[in-house]
Amino acid sequence: MAQSGADRADRADRADRADGAHGEHGADGTDGAAAFEGVAIITGANSGLGFETARRLAAMSTSNTVVLACRDLAKATVAQRAITATTGNTNVRAMRLDVASISSVREFAAEWHSAAEAPIDALVCNAGISRGPAETVDELDGVFETNHLGHFLLSQLLLDSIAENGRVISVSSDMHSPPGPRLKWPGAEVLAHPGQKAAVSRLRYSYSKLCNLYFSYEFSRRLRAEQSGISVAAFNPGLMTETNFARIPRPVGAVMKRIFASRLGSLETSSVALAGLAAGESPVPIDDHYFDRTDQVFTRSSDLSYNEKNARELWRVSSELTQL
Ligand SMILES: NC(=O)c1ccc[n+]([C@@H]2O[C@H](COP(=O)([O-])OP(=O)(O)OC[C@H]3O[C@@H](n4cnc5c(N)ncnc54)[C@H](OP(=O)(O)O)[C@@H]3O)[C@@H](O)[C@H]2O)c1
Repeated sequence: MAQSGADRADRADRADRADGAHGEHGADGTDGAAAFEGVAIITGANSGLGFETARRLAAMSTSNTVVLACRDLAKATVAQRAITATTGNTNVRAMRLDVASISSVREFAAEWHSAAEAPIDALVCNAGISRGPAETVDELDGVFETNHLGHFLLSQLLLDSIAENGRVISVSSDMHSPPGPRLKWPGAEVLAHPGQKAAVSRLRYSYSKLCNLYFSYEFSRRLRAEQSGISVAAFNPGLMTETNFARIPRPVGAVMKRIFASRLGSLETSSVALAGLAAGESPVPIDDHYFDRTDQVFTRSSDLSYNEKNARELWRVSSELTQL
């Protein structure tokens, strides 16, 4: 169910129409169409996909509360001012959150609870790194903790604050199934502490993005068992050469785009799709599904990502590591 060029163009066009920054429309930037109204938290929202998604959600209604949850408060404040300036939304807020630190995640959740905030309509687990510290302050693998564990803990600590029909969206990647030999699940403990296991370390990003899928599908199963109305989905933005994550010098970028043509995304179309998922605008039920560069249709992730035993094991180990 690949996204068609026409679909992308249409979505990008809609984004521009909902984009208060272009100044062609009313203060809420929506042209009067029904649009998301509520509270959204986006991790890693000071740059790239997180920033663009936050900006689009803020532009949908000036009464939307959009929280930029970032490890560097100074960068988050710059982003907050930029979004407020271009959308007119004064309810954009910067909060400190380092998802590679269990204590920071706990502090964020405690701050949220103590402020008795309105229910969260959308939690967007976006912050991510492709390489980084071999060990975090918690003595865990940096990519594993940043991309998976911190978000796992955040979602569980905030669960009681998520609206009855709220959404949790994890930004995964099609690199959960990288080119080459198929991934084998090494076990969650090994991912948390890869040590000298070069084969695992080399693929730590892909494993972390597989964890995003295990997390989403298992969280969804657990919520359904409790008859919760919260939806959990995963999203692949595709290769976006415009963000800090994969910013590539032009000549190399052109070659990469040719090699990875089928995996290409763009910051514009992927932020439109992610904002659509977060806003509840998708025309299809999003719970328990994986969306590849669009919010219009869901698709299948890798066969390995549907292994329920692995997902349960990851959930158990994640709970132990975070002392939930
Ligand atoms: N770009 C791509 O080609 C691509 C493809 C597939 C999936 N993705 C996924 O898309 C998501 C967004 O990436 P992007 O492309 O927008 O890259 P980006 O511009 O580098 O944005 C990543 C964001 O995550 C934040 N972050 C990193 N570590 C953090 C931590 N410990 N705590 C809180 N925030 C942290 C960064 O903050 P700082 O500014 O402080 O570093 C930054 O705001 C990631 O999950 C990535 O895996 C990207």
